[in-house]
Amino acid sequence: MDNKKILFVCLGNICRSPAAEGIMKSLAANKGLDMQIAIDSAGTMGYHTGDSPDPRMVAHAAKRGYRLDHKARKFDPKTDFDKFDFIITMDNSNYKDITAMDRDGSHKERIFKMAHFVKSFDVDEVPDPYYLGTQGFENVLNVLEDGCKGLLDTITKST
Ligand code: 4NP
Repeated sequence: MDNKKILFVCLGNICRSPAAEGIMKSLAANKGLDMQIAIDSAGTMGYHTGDSPDPRMVAHAAKRGYRLDHKARKFDPKTDFDKFDFIITMDNSNYKDITAMDRDGSHKERIFKMAHFVKSFDVDEVPDPYYLGTQGFENVLNVLEDGCKGLLDTITKST
C-alpha cells in the first residue's frame, strides 16, 4: 500500500476530530500500518488553538484504551489541502466550510464526510457532543470507531 495522509476535521478540534485521530492511530498500529498512514486533526475554528482535547472526551476515550495526544489547530487551506490525501469532515457544517475553502474545487476528491465510511449506524453526520452529556460522547465514539474501521478498509483496499 502507498503511504497515505489523513486529516480529521471538526469545529473546535478538541472533541470529535482528536478522538477520530486517536482511534485511527490505534487501528493503524494494530494492523502494523502506523508507518504508512500519517494521521492528524484540525478545526475549522481557531478558538481552541493550542488546547488539549476536552477532558470529557479524553476520559471517555481512555476507557476504551485510546490516548488522545494532540494540541488543537485551525485548518490551513494554504497547506492542508496539498498535504493530505483524505480530509474527513465530521458534520455537514464542517463539510460545507472546508469545501468553501477549496475555491476552485481542485481538491474536492480529497474531501469526505465521516458518515460516508460508517457502516453499522444510520447517520448523516457525527454530531457535536460539546453541549451533550455522557451519552453524547459515548455515541460519538461508537460512530467514530465504526467510521474509522470503514475508512481503514477503504484505504487498504484502494492500493
Ligand atoms: P468539536 O466540538 O468540534 O468536536 O471539537 C466543539 C468544541 C468546542 C466548541 C464547539 C464544538 N466551541 O464552540 O467552543
